[in-house]
Amino acid sequence: MNRQDDIAKAEAIMRNNDRGNYTVPTHGLYPFQWNWDSCLSALGFSHFDLDRGLVELETLFASQWQDGMVPHIIFHEYDDGYFPNADVWQTNQLVPTSGITQPPVAGYALAELYKRANDKEAIEGRTRQLLQQVHKWHQWFYRYRADQSGLVAIVHPWESGRDNSVDWDAAFERVPTEGVSPFVRRDTSHANPKHRPTDEQYKRYIWLVQKFRSLGWDNAEIARQSPFQIVDPGFNAILIRSSLALAELADTLGEAQVAAESRVFADKAQTSLEGLWSDAFGQYLCYDRVTKTLVQSPSVSGVLAVFAPIPRQRVEQIAQTIRKLAEQSNYLVASHPPSAPEFDELRYWRGPVWLIVNYMIAVGLRDAGQTDLVQRIVDDSIALIEKSGFAEYYGPIRATPCGGDAFTWTAAMVLEFFSTFDPRVETESLIELNNVHQGMS
Ligand code: GLC
Repeated sequence: MNRQDDIAKAEAIMRNNDRGNYTVPTHGLYPFQWNWDSCLSALGFSHFDLDRGLVELETLFASQWQDGMVPHIIFHEYDDGYFPNADVWQTNQLVPTSGITQPPVAGYALAELYKRANDKEAIEGRTRQLLQQVHKWHQWFYRYRADQSGLVAIVHPWESGRDNSVDWDAAFERVPTEGVSPFVRRDTSHANPKHRPTDEQYKRYIWLVQKFRSLGWDNAEIARQSPFQIVDPGFNAILIRSSLALAELADTLGEAQVAAESRVFADKAQTSLEGLWSDAFGQYLCYDRVTKTLVQSPSVSGVLAVFAPIPRQRVEQIAQTIRKLAEQSNYLVASHPPSAPEFDELRYWRGPVWLIVNYMIAVGLRDAGQTDLVQRIVDDSIALIEKSGFAEYYGPIRATPCGGDAFTWTAAMVLEFFSTFDPRVETESLIELNNVHQGMS
């Protein structure tokens, strides 16, 4: 294959998974709209149909809850081939949705789309509207999920987007399985069960859903009562970066209040992120708010934190940690280090490589000037699709394609890698972010 073939294939996958005003992550396994899938896919669309990318975000935000939350799944069409579907969530929304959220990458995506648009005037009204909606979502995070540190917690592993990460194992011991209504998993009939979470984990996922449902999806109560409350560094880095991107966009559009508030949110969280740093692991770690301890699990989330403008010294330490991963695997960046006892090469978020994570790490490293490492991550990502197709995720040792195939966000990231990482392209925001890095060093 060559670059032109890869691009044509990626576009075809995105078109195939397009359901008109939203895309499904892949046919069969995931028949609805997922939150961060859509935002990252919008970036992919921007390379061949920017307007369609904007529509992807608009459809997602049309399902924003009254209180500001943007749900992790929108069930646009009935489909009982997925569990848990709308009948289980029972969130009472006009278009049925799940009741939890996902990593807030929308602010970053929206700002990128606007920057890339040739005719900015034509999309200004729509951008302004989305800017307010994204801001409302960020305010929701700070209202319901932040403590005095300014960092936000997730209340369900699915919110992290890294469903079965080793990060959740200890906290999951606290989540009961009694009282979970009997259910039949559907994911394991679409994908190899060895590549998926275990039944034990699934029971706990559903216990939490039932618990939140019993609280009438009241977000204040959910935040108070969930036995699972984790501050995830990657998730927070995404929120910080999105807030800063939104602030920059708000400046451009003359929305001074959104700009000011977003910067206050981001600055506070960014300062507190340092509290999650671990010298022993050379990366950030999750923090368990219930036990008030750092979770001793060196997952990729603490590496992904480089997506936010963290201090230069931290960038260098993280780069070192990634180089160590490169010695233990053939393809960067494993979601859990192969040297760790819990590493499972093919099981979802316990080892495999995900191109969306590679992309966000590469963006952060690029902005911090780590050019060589960026090149290696980009090369590995392209090598994976060329060897194993546009899979959902891949084994970091043998490039085994795992999960679903013809995957939307994998395709979108390939388009991003080819366009955004062209060394000739240096955007203004990049230069600005570099300055932030310099300032913090
Ligand atoms: C899985 C992933 C999650 C993603 C979803 C749809 O649940 O863990 O991050 O959003 O699939 O692709």
